[in-house]
Amino acid sequence: MASSTQHYTHGQWTSRLVFVFAATGSAVGLGNIWKFPYMAGENGGSSFILIYLACVAFIALPILSAELLIGRHGKRSPVNVFRRFHRDYGTPAVWRFAGWLGVLAGFLILSYYSVIAGWVIAYVFQAGAGAFANATADSIASNFNGLVSDPERLTLWHTFFMILTVAVLMRGIHKGIERVVKYFMPLLLALILGLIFYNFFVGDMARTMNFMFSFDFGKVTGETVLMALGQAFFSLSLGMGAMMIYGSYLPDSAPLFGTASVVAFADTLVALLAGLMIFPLLFAFGMEPAQGVGLIFKTLPLAFSQMPGGVVFGTLFFFLLLIAAWTSALSLLEPIIAWAVEHLAWSRVKASVTAGAVAWLIGLGTVFSFNLWQDIKLWDKTLFDLLDYLTSNIMLPLGGLLVVLFVGWMLPGAAVRAEAGFRSERLYRLWRVVVRWIAPAAVVLILFHLLGWEIIRQMMN
Ligand code: PFF
Repeated sequence: MASSTQHYTHGQWTSRLVFVFAATGSAVGLGNIWKFPYMAGENGGSSFILIYLACVAFIALPILSAELLIGRHGKRSPVNVFRRFHRDYGTPAVWRFAGWLGVLAGFLILSYYSVIAGWVIAYVFQAGAGAFANATADSIASNFNGLVSDPERLTLWHTFFMILTVAVLMRGIHKGIERVVKYFMPLLLALILGLIFYNFFVGDMARTMNFMFSFDFGKVTGETVLMALGQAFFSLSLGMGAMMIYGSYLPDSAPLFGTASVVAFADTLVALLAGLMIFPLLFAFGMEPAQGVGLIFKTLPLAFSQMPGGVVFGTLFFFLLLIAAWTSALSLLEPIIAWAVEHLAWSRVKASVTAGAVAWLIGLGTVFSFNLWQDIKLWDKTLFDLLDYLTSNIMLPLGGLLVVLFVGWMLPGAAVRAEAGFRSERLYRLWRVVVRWIAPAAVVLILFHLLGWEIIRQMMN
């Protein structure tokens, strides 16, 4: 089925370790650094963490390995991989739309991710210039509101971030992505550990331990479980082709499930460490952890304004957040670039610049949804809210569902077994049952949960 216009020049990571850095770079992002710790604190501390760990181990990890398996077995971009399986194994051709769904989701996520990452860049400079030193809650809030209501500044930082992303991607996987993750992922970890170390002196570790790890099953409801599951899903970058394309560059010699486990472990570790990095400061300065955007962009700067060495600490914090966002962004655009190179025979540079430019243009919609277009709403949502909702709550779980169904029910069992490379037969069987039955059921539950809530909310309005 390969037509003459398709150019299969599929690359490979230099080593398994580099893959682990790249995949962890994709997984570790805003989801780990501010969403997870907060969710844990609010939902029963260590009982939430236990549930989260179970969700990662029993559902997200099997899905991650299924996604990597499709990529590595097919060695194509997410759309063409399904075409290839259609040709080689006779799987229905319509599955290529599962690839499209993933590619499109990544593309749309990047369009707004870049705008938010732009705020982070603005904060790196502001923190570095001492803008938060001796600031008050009011001045910090008005500074934030000033930033988001200014379309020109937002566009500037959004452009800056997109250039940063495209500049890496156009160099390809070796000279681009690999180089970045090889240096910046260890740096990210070092910064997190350094800031935690500092917290032992200035932060309130005792209260943090209590907040994050006190065991309270009373706070756990069915909804908590679904929240943990959704978070595990988002945190591991599942369901949107990112892990599929990264998996397609994974050397055949690397044990698939073992490698996926390392990535899942590293991602979870960073989520836990993030809590130890953020909360001790807030508690030491008598603040309560706010939810969402407020925590990072309003509450935390206030803590920086009051602590010794706050300028340095604050600058480093936003810098590490920028690294986390950057390495995630790389994985969001890679699927479509790989597709354009493969399918349209474009050069890497042309594919990266074009994809980045289109994502940038769509991102302007997000920029304006905070200011000029803030009153334009569809189903009570601004364009940004709508994009976020559509991608995180619908496209990602749906993409994940299709991935496990494909591996569980479409690919020939023998090919799956060989590719997954389990040493233990028992573990393989368990994994197979999860991929065929448990993971799809869990994802359907998340989907209904997310959609159900929204429908109820709409009806109440
Ligand atoms: N995993 C990232 C986080 O936890 O913040 C978010 C993300 C990045 C999702 C890249 C999907 C993706 F492809």
